[in-house]
Amino acid sequence: MKALVLAGGSGTRLRPITHTSAKQLVPIANKPVLFYGLEAIADAGIKDVGIVVGETAAEIREAVGDGSAFGLDVTYIAQPEPLGLAHAVLIAREYLGDEDFLMYLGDNFIVGGIAPLVDEFRVHAPDAQLMLTRVKNPGAYGVATLSADGRVVALAEKPERPESDLAVVGAYLFTPVVHEAVRAIAPSDRGELEITDALQWLLDRGRDVRPTVVTGYWKDTGNVEDMLEANRCVLEILEPAVEGVVSADSQLIGRVRVCAGAEVRGSRIVGPALIGPGSVVTDSYVGPSTSIAEHCRITDSEIEFSIVLGHSSITGVRRVDASLIGCHVEVAPAPRVPSSHRFVLGDHSKIRISS
Ligand code: TTP
Repeated sequence: MKALVLAGGSGTRLRPITHTSAKQLVPIANKPVLFYGLEAIADAGIKDVGIVVGETAAEIREAVGDGSAFGLDVTYIAQPEPLGLAHAVLIAREYLGDEDFLMYLGDNFIVGGIAPLVDEFRVHAPDAQLMLTRVKNPGAYGVATLSADGRVVALAEKPERPESDLAVVGAYLFTPVVHEAVRAIAPSDRGELEITDALQWLLDRGRDVRPTVVTGYWKDTGNVEDMLEANRCVLEILEPAVEGVVSADSQLIGRVRVCAGAEVRGSRIVGPALIGPGSVVTDSYVGPSTSIAEHCRITDSEIEFSIVLGHSSITGVRRVDASLIGCHVEVAPAPRVPSSHRFVLGDHSKIRISS
């Protein structure tokens, strides 16, 4: 079995971060979200991985290389435009050959990995296996309708009136029959070849599409809230360690990891929190569920429930909360403007001012 990892796309929901970098490389607990997926694929015993890349191909290639660091053999497949998940399957036809394959969305975060999905597929040998999870806003997803005996009977992409709260997420398993489906369907109203349409095509022809309902943790890190939540979740199981320097006048409380080359001076860090390699925290408070990446400077500031990417600095700011801060960012207070009023008041004006 091969895997097809989708790491192209446009990432509009994570702008402006994704104007300059791939959303699949935004870190969760200081590790790119894509790496969790590649590790899960290796854990499921799959070795050959095709990664679909778009505009950010160079960055993804640089981060993942030939895949050997993950025990994988990676081939890159260029998608000239993000024309949909089914389009990614279409252009990977030659790479995938006539093997069954796992399709994995590179910006999705699945706690517990994909082994249950792969196992079910191997046992029941359906034409396709889907991962479903219950969501509060099914209208934002592909939505599955199940029969009384638990089979998928219908699928709809972002329906106005969803028939269930079961969203299609994360990862899919396919037999080669899907190639016929992706060739047969037409682009949707938003101009994409939808994988839900390909799956519906299979259902319409009596094919067996089975669901695996995941109750564990799943996040689409394509939006900031989910990304912060995934970060919080991974930090909950962080192994505390001090590999860097913590001054005597600093306090580390709970699960805190201070990585090699990092320094904490005159500061209070309340875990779970991660201070990345080479980062320096001075006279500051770093609160729970915060990941600071490498070579950052946090000075005279307060930050919590946030992700800070590499080489950024936060100076004299209180307090930063629920934020995703890109790399090479500088955050500092604006110079104080003396408060004054400038008027050009006409004759007989009556004005009220609060100060
Ligand atoms: P989505 O999050 O569905 O799409 P997107 O990346 O265009 O994001 P946004 O909605 O914020 O604009 O994509 C899921 C994954 O699949 C993600 O890792 C990007 C990838 N993808 C491709 O590789 N090719 C594509 O044509 C599309 C649509 C997505």
